[in-house]
Amino acid sequence: MKKIAVLTSGGDAPGMNAAIRAVVRKAIYHNVQVYGVYNGYQGLIDGNIGEMELGSVGDIIHRGGTVLLSARCDEFTTDEGQWKAIKQLKRHEIDGLIVIGGDGSIRGAQQLTEKKFPCIGIPATIDNDISGTDFTIGFDTALNTIIEAIDKIRDTATSHERTYIIEVMGRDAGDLALWAGLADGAESILIPEYTEKFEDVIDRLKRGHERGKRHSIIILAEGVGSGFDYGKRIQEATNMETRVTVLGYIQRGGSPTAADRVLASRLGAKAVDSLLEGKHGRMVGLQNNVLVNHHISEALSNEMMFNTEMYTLSKELSI
Ligand code: F6P
Repeated sequence: MKKIAVLTSGGDAPGMNAAIRAVVRKAIYHNVQVYGVYNGYQGLIDGNIGEMELGSVGDIIHRGGTVLLSARCDEFTTDEGQWKAIKQLKRHEIDGLIVIGGDGSIRGAQQLTEKKFPCIGIPATIDNDISGTDFTIGFDTALNTIIEAIDKIRDTATSHERTYIIEVMGRDAGDLALWAGLADGAESILIPEYTEKFEDVIDRLKRGHERGKRHSIIILAEGVGSGFDYGKRIQEATNMETRVTVLGYIQRGGSPTAADRVLASRLGAKAVDSLLEGKHGRMVGLQNNVLVNHHISEALSNEMMFNTEMYTLSKELSI
């Protein structure tokens, strides 16, 4: 391979820039030319492609978002869109592509590989909902942002003796809520992977109140439903003063944590090596602190294992 390209696609995640940097620098280290595709798959279809040099990725390792910009692109989900993308890659004489993004973006890399264009996927999403890696790039930073916010909300919850419902992102996955709930000692964690009876949540709040607890924090994953609806039901059922905070997009931004920068650097470099070794149609990941590259179909097909041990522990510790 003489020329490769890199793009970021789907929801941005802190650490994407560190991954881009690693791809560019590792490729140049191997004397391979690197091109950046701007605006994700849409930019690929439109031919929004430019060469990157060592300096193109200077001073970005600590920045959130993605310097290559990102987009969700419906056209690329069609065969026609994918052929247009391949035509653009060939027009620039590019031999391989690295895609940084969530499961939908990585599935796109698989579809291009099936059309005989070699690709590698790097998992990057705050949701941590991809099975072929222990952690996705961006999860740790989003988690720390959530913790910081909850710590602040807790001050008010304590001062005003209120119950707070905090809705966090995660799409259909509950990892952000589960980890944040355990890290912050939440009274209840509501996630899509486990349906807790409403009466049990109420019972728990009441028992806590009887023991002298004057405030409570409930973390709700967005995949379960609306925090505002839930808050209303809680207030009606308990008569406790209840407030709702939807954390929203502050969870996606910000400077990546050290863990995300290191993960992104390792996965970016591994992606380049995998592409150059001819291991195409793979997704790189980190499992038990070992770099892996599973076939994308395998990496995405396995169900994410719900961490029962962590969920049970959160219950045991927040009695
Ligand atoms: O996948 C990341 C994520 O932030 C999810 O947690 C959330 O459900 C979704 O993206 C929101 O997507 P968009 O910004 O396209 O509305």
